[in-house]
Amino acid sequence: AGRGQPFRDLAQAVCTHLYREFPHYSWVGIYMVEGDRLKLWAWDGPQPTQHVEIPLNAGLCGWAASTGQLANVPDVRQDPRYLQCFLSCRSEIVVPIARQGRVYGEIDIDSDRLAAFGPEDEDFLQAVCAVLAEVAAGDGAVQAALAGGS
Ligand code: SME
Repeated sequence: AGRGQPFRDLAQAVCTHLYREFPHYSWVGIYMVEGDRLKLWAWDGPQPTQHVEIPLNAGLCGWAASTGQLANVPDVRQDPRYLQCFLSCRSEIVVPIARQGRVYGEIDIDSDRLAAFGPEDEDFLQAVCAVLAEVAAGDGAVQAALAGGS
């Protein structure tokens, strides 16, 4: 078990809940920023991703983490930032887990539908991310894991 296990358990519960409750969420992951890389701390979906680590300068995931901005891409095949994961993926949303200018990580969701994510997904996922950021900010073991790698 890595450092920050309670937060990892929370992240896992969030991924599993989102994957099970929202049919247009085809794969759900939570990446955390460890140094210059994103590392996959939790996920749920039909299959694992090969992208368990993503450099901050790669993919939609790297873009969202390095800019601190939400990415909502209606057609991944039209976006040059896209790093291909699942062949069935058509749209993707990446929402930073951030607080007071610091990006701790992000929720990354793939959908097999084109333009699957609307304003209600953005608002809801930003609220979920705000809670995760609050928990991460108050958890010394998470800070240690993000600072030191693992
Ligand atoms: N598509 C992502 C890579 C991660 S997989 O979707 C799980 C990206 O463009 O960063």
